Amino acid sequence: MLKKKIEDILNAQVEKEGYSSNLYLAMATWTEANGYGGIAKWFYAQAEEERLHMLKFIHYINEKGGHAIVPVFNAPPKDYSDIHTMFEEVLKHEEYITQSINDIVGMAIDERDFTTQSWIQWFVNEQIEEEAQVREILDKLRLLGKENLYLFDRDIMTLRAANAAADAGE
Ligand code: FEO
Repeated sequence: MLKKKIEDILNAQVEKEGYSSNLYLAMATWTEANGYGGIAKWFYAQAEEERLHMLKFIHYINEKGGHAIVPVFNAPPKDYSDIHTMFEEVLKHEEYITQSINDIVGMAIDERDFTTQSWIQWFVNEQIEEEAQVREILDKLRLLGKENLYLFDRDIMTLRAANAAADAGE
C-alpha cells in the first residue's frame, strides 16, 4: 500500500507526463502544419512515449493499492516562433521533468518506500537519455544555422532510430 504522500506525488507526475504528451503533440501539429514533416514525426513519436510514461505511473499507483487520477490538463501553447526555440523549450521542459523525478526519489527515500525508490530508477535513466537526445539535437541545429533545416528535417528520425538502437545495446 502506498503512503498518501507518495500516492499524491505520483499522481502529480501523471499530470506532468500527460501534459508532456500534449505539449509534444502541440509541437507535432505545429511542425506538420508548417512543412516540417520529419520533425513532426519526431514529436508525434515523443508524444506517444510520454503517454506511455503517464500510463506507467497510472498502472504503478493502481497496482500498489492506490488510485491513479486522470487530471485536467492545461492547454499547451499552440504557436511557436521557430524550430530552434522549440527545441530549447523541449530541453527546459525535460530538465523540469528530471527535477520532478528527482523529487519523487527524494520523497521515496525520506518515507523509506524502497519499492517506489527502486521502481522510479527506470525514469531516472530515461531522463538522462531524453535530455542527452535533445542536447544532441540542439548541437546539430547550432551547426546548421537557422536557415538550413531541410537536411535536419529529413534526418531527425534517423538520429532518433540511432539513439534507440544505442539504448537497446545494438
Ligand atoms: Fe516522460 Fe520526457 O519525460
